[in-house]
Amino acid sequence: MRKIAVFASGSGSNFQAIVDAVVAGELQADIQLLVCDKPGAKVVDRARKHGIPVFTFLPKTFASKADFEKEIVSELQAYGVEFIVLAGYMRLIGEVLLGAYEGRIVNIHPSYLPAFPGKNAVGQALEANVAETGVTVHYVDSGMDTGPIIEQVKIPVLPGDTETTLQERIQKAEHQLYPAIINKLVQKDIVGGIVQ
Ligand code: GAR
Repeated sequence: MRKIAVFASGSGSNFQAIVDAVVAGELQADIQLLVCDKPGAKVVDRARKHGIPVFTFLPKTFASKADFEKEIVSELQAYGVEFIVLAGYMRLIGEVLLGAYEGRIVNIHPSYLPAFPGKNAVGQALEANVAETGVTVHYVDSGMDTGPIIEQVKIPVLPGDTETTLQERIQKAEHQLYPAIINKLVQKDIVGGIVQ
């Protein structure tokens, strides 16, 4: 079974959906490690509850992104991680991690990319007054939510929606979509470092 690591910074509802799918046998992967750049985040408690090893770090205690990514890569290699899943990891991936794992890092973003990249995609969609937004799963490159798109779904913006109600609808879709896509990807071969 493919060994994966999940990277997250926050509440970890997508992390939880991934764990639940593994437990239910719907996602054929071994979650080796949670990587978290916010040691106090709720996602850390979720991992501990499930006995999943956690690597937390404080970016500001490192001289550069390259320095903390080198530590992350050595942790990933120690666990034999082959595939990285970003689930609310609110940080751009740098050249050290891309050098080690490009083509094997995926991200989920709460909009129909290329619309509304970056932070607060849900608020951005409401602000823009669009009739629909969405969820996108994509490969990660050095840009902000810019890598090749793997799958997208559209989500309607309903009259009277607030950031809370729209986010709830989006996250419900994320929790179904992401484990299913990850399962498809981890069944594929990795050739020359790229998932084929
Ligand atoms: C998710 O909605 C994810 O799509 C978003 O962060 C949220 C994390 O929620 N990611 C981005 O905005 C990436 N640019 P969670 O911690 O409850 O899974």
